[in-house]
Amino acid sequence: MKVKMLDLSREYKKYRKEYIEAVERVFDRGDFILGEDVKNVERIVADYVGVKYGIGVGNGTDALLLSLMACGVGENDEVITTPFTFFATVEVILQLRAIPVFVDISLEDFNIDTDLIEEKITTKTKAIIPVHIFGYPVNMERIMNLANKYNLVVIEDCAQAIGAKIKEKKCGSFGSTGTFSFFPTKNIGCAGDGGMVVTDSEDVYKKIRSLRVHGSSQKYIHDDIGLNSRLDTIQAALILEKLKRIEEINEKRRINAQFYNKMLTDKVKKPSEKKGYHHIYHQYSILAERRDELKEYLKSKGVDSVIYYPLPMHKQNVVQKILKKEYSLPVCENVSKKILSLPIYPELEDEEKEYVVEKINEFYDRS
Ligand SMILES: Cc1ncc(COP(=O)(O)O)c(C=O)c1O
Repeated sequence: MKVKMLDLSREYKKYRKEYIEAVERVFDRGDFILGEDVKNVERIVADYVGVKYGIGVGNGTDALLLSLMACGVGENDEVITTPFTFFATVEVILQLRAIPVFVDISLEDFNIDTDLIEEKITTKTKAIIPVHIFGYPVNMERIMNLANKYNLVVIEDCAQAIGAKIKEKKCGSFGSTGTFSFFPTKNIGCAGDGGMVVTDSEDVYKKIRSLRVHGSSQKYIHDDIGLNSRLDTIQAALILEKLKRIEEINEKRRINAQFYNKMLTDKVKKPSEKKGYHHIYHQYSILAERRDELKEYLKSKGVDSVIYYPLPMHKQNVVQKILKKEYSLPVCENVSKKILSLPIYPELEDEEKEYVVEKINEFYDRS
C-alpha cells in the first residue's frame, strides 16, 4: 500500500464541478483584481474569526509582513517569536531590518514557551509573533497579558490554524492582527497562493488596504511604500467554496488524530489538547525515538511522513549571519531531532490510517 502525506486530487475530484463553476463566475464578471469574491471572503473570514475586518492579500508571508508594517515595526525593533516555525515568520522580521528574538518552545505543544517570554522583553521590544504551530493554539491569555503590560503589538501567525480556538475564541482574534495562509496544503487551501489579515483595528485595516496596493488609498496617489499583494479573485472564489465546509474539514482531521492517538504505540509521544484548547491538526506530529530510522522504515513500506522542521530558525545560515548571536534553545533543538508528521488529511481512507499505525507499531515492536 502507498499512503501519501497529502493527495489534493481526491478533494478536487469530489468538488470539481463546484470549483469550476466558481471560477467561471469570475470569468463571467471579469473582476479578477479585488473583485466581489475577495470582498465576500474577507467578510466571511472576519466573521468566522470574530473580528471586524479582513484584508485579502497575496499569501501568508505578505500577511505577516503587511501586519508588521502597518503596526509600525521597523529597523532595530525587537520582535519576540518562536524558533520552531516555517521560515516566513522570521523572514518578514528580517526584511524590515528588525531583530528576531527567539524564545524556546514547550515540549508539550511545540509552541513558544510563554513562561520564558517576559525575561526576553527589553526597551527595544516592539512586538510578539506567536505561531499556532500545527494548528494548536498558543496560550494567548499569557501573551496578551504581557503585551498589555509592556505595550507590545501582537501578530498571531495563524497560517496553520484557521478554526483553532481557545474556549470559543478563535485564533486570530486575540492579537493586533491575525494572519492566514491559503497555500494549497493548508486546511483551507486555494489553487495557488493566497493570504488574509484580520484585525479589529480600523486604523490597521485602512493601512493594510493601502499597503497591499502600493501604499495607495486613492488611485495613482501614493502615501507609503507598499507592496503589490492582493488575493486574486479566482483564488477567493475557491476559498469561498471551501469555507462552506470548514467545520467538516477540520473535524475530519480531528477524527483522524483521535484514531492515531488511540491506536499508536505509547512508545511515541502523541499530541494532546489542554482543556478548552481546540486543535485543528494542520499536522499530526509525534516525537519518535530513532526518528530517522522510523522515517526510512515507513518509506520502505510506502508510507509518507515529513519532518517539520529539521532546522530551527536560530540555526539557519542566513539568520546566524545577520544576528551574529549564538542561541541555545534546547527544547526546540531536541524536538527538531525527534519530530515526525504523519498523513492526516481529511480524505485519508480508514485502511490507510490503519496501515500507518500498523507500520509504526511494527517498527517499535521489532526492536
Ligand atoms: C507558520 C507559517 N507562517 C507563514 C507561512 C507563510 O504562508 P505562505 O506560504 O502563504 O506565504 C506558512 C506557510 O507555509 C506557515 O506555515
